[in-house]
Amino acid sequence: MIGDIVAEVADELDVADIRRRARQLADDLGFRSAKSYRLATIVSELAHNLHFHAAAGRTIRLTPVELSGRVGIEVVSSDTGPGIADVALAMSDGYSTNRGLGAGLPGVARLADDFHISSELGVGTTVVARLWR
Ligand SMILES: Nc1ncnc2c1ncn2[C@@H]1O[C@H](COP(=O)(O)OP(=O)(O)OP(=O)(O)O)[C@@H](O)[C@H]1O
Ligand SMILES: [Mg+2]
Repeated sequence: MIGDIVAEVADELDVADIRRRARQLADDLGFRSAKSYRLATIVSELAHNLHFHAAAGRTIRLTPVELSGRVGIEVVSSDTGPGIADVALAMSDGYSTNRGLGAGLPGVARLADDFHISSELGVGTTVVARLWR
């Protein structure tokens, strides 16, 4: 079985690197190319958020998973950054504290088969997204 990939995301190069590795992992697990691309986009958006919005403990973990015969990839983005004051607001299209498009998190939620976010002010943010082959 192919193992986990864990990467610290501190700068743009790390974002590009984990995006590329996500795409490779999906290809290795036999994902169709449209789905590999979806995974790469999810990972890229989450990694960008680590880079732009969190300052510490910024990690992306990619884990191959198998559940009742289904093969998938679980993406966990975690940080010990500032946290999000209003998660529902952050999940709405167009909301950005950074003059971004505010398209990242809602886009990830739409692209993922399973999505979960939890965040606590002053503690950090964890996002879990899964895609099934
Ligand atoms: N890891 C995080 N830590 C703290 N705040 C975050 C984190 N990720 C997202 N946020 C907050 O949620 C908001 C919405 O995130 P989202 O990715 O949707 O938009 P954005 O990053 O501002 O812009 P875009 O992704 O479109 O370039 C951010 O502006 C930021 O306030
Ligand atoms: Mg973003």
